[in-house]
Amino acid sequence: MVITILSRSHADRNVYPSAGVLFVHVLEREHFKGEFPPYPKPGDSSNDPITFNTNLMGYPDRPGWLRYIQRTSHSDGVLYGSPTAEHVGKATIIEITAYNRRTFETARHNLVINIMSTEDYPLPYQAEFFIKNMNVEEMLASEVLGDFLGAVKNVWQPERLNAINITSALDRGGRVPLPINNLKEGVYVMVGADVQFSSCLREVENPHNQLRCSQEMEPVISCDKKFRAQFDIDWCKINLVDITKVVTIHSNRPDPGTGVLPDIGEYNPPSESLKSRDFFADFLITLAVPSAVAMVLFTILGYSMCCRREGVDKRNMQTPDIQLVHHSSIQKSTKELRSMSKNREISWPLSTLPVFSQSGEVVPPIHPDNYETTSMPLMQTQTALPTHSSLRPPPTGQAAYYHKRGL
Ligand SMILES: *[C@@H]1O[C@H](CO)[C@@H](O)[C@H](O)[C@H]1NC(C)=O
Repeated sequence: MVITILSRSHADRNVYPSAGVLFVHVLEREHFKGEFPPYPKPGDSSNDPITFNTNLMGYPDRPGWLRYIQRTSHSDGVLYGSPTAEHVGKATIIEITAYNRRTFETARHNLVINIMSTEDYPLPYQAEFFIKNMNVEEMLASEVLGDFLGAVKNVWQPERLNAINITSALDRGGRVPLPINNLKEGVYVMVGADVQFSSCLREVENPHNQLRCSQEMEPVISCDKKFRAQFDIDWCKINLVDITKVVTIHSNRPDPGTGVLPDIGEYNPPSESLKSRDFFADFLITLAVPSAVAMVLFTILGYSMCCRREGVDKRNMQTPDIQLVHHSSIQKSTKELRSMSKNREISWPLSTLPVFSQSGEVVPPIHPDNYETTSMPLMQTQTALPTHSSLRPPPTGQAAYYHKRGL
């Protein structure tokens, strides 16, 4: 018999799932919508985005076995998971807070999960299927899960069959599919039964199919057509676990012990009245000593800069008198020469330009024979023959120029 508890949410609902059986609880948007004030225009509120927050009462998160998924704010949320025998007995209160993302109002309900023990738990033969063409929340819908369990029952023929666990492939290292061709994430579904695995489920173990799996080809499974219409099963990833055998393996493990550490004597906590620490020595070392050294250096430097200055007077005193006289006489004549040359600069253009008198008249050349080469080529070429390039005076003319200046 398929035992899948599917309940609808109401305020302070009690649900009674069995340990070792998949528990699914749908948080319906429709139900929570009634909690929020109606939209001004009737009918519009049906599209309010609603999200849910679920947590164990008094704690920020859900218990570890309980998982939650809501794909979009316009789809229902689903709580699901597999309680185990250790959760039996105590009531688990889950706070469900619904947020209306349009009005930002909230509504809170409590879900009380009372986990029941089952005498036939756990079912010894467990098979995990990987279904490639489903997302986890699609698989959680009761009719889809019922269809799948029906198909498994058909090929396995057990007395009892339960869904034990459902895990999105994303939680097992799977990748988010590309948004093309309506690709799905894939989901692992574990079912448990009370009879040995059927020959069909074991077909993947034969050498021929193992070879095909290693070459990434689909194995040939005779009963695949029972699933094919709705479920695309990756038979290479089927995982068959016989719990009776696993338990014998576990019994070979070393004894885990009591979980209590050996007694290592009395614990002495540090005294409550702590002595205040003296930082004076630290202060001296880190501040006072460097400051003292800096002060000494400052004093020495200040003294030598202010009180030990020696200037021009000292230098003159140390120089022999004859040198000082010599030096100053050189300086004096240099100054004199400079002032004289200043005076000369005013008159030399006239003396170097014999072509013009001071009145501007043209003076006949002194040496007519040398006219071309020596005496006065510069101004001649520049004034009388303006077509000649003034940038290239003949070298002889240049020499004459300096000659006339007497340099
Ligand atoms: C169910 O699957 C989840 C995720 O793979 C795992 O953490 C959890 O232990 C499983 N529960 C049982 C009862 O196998």
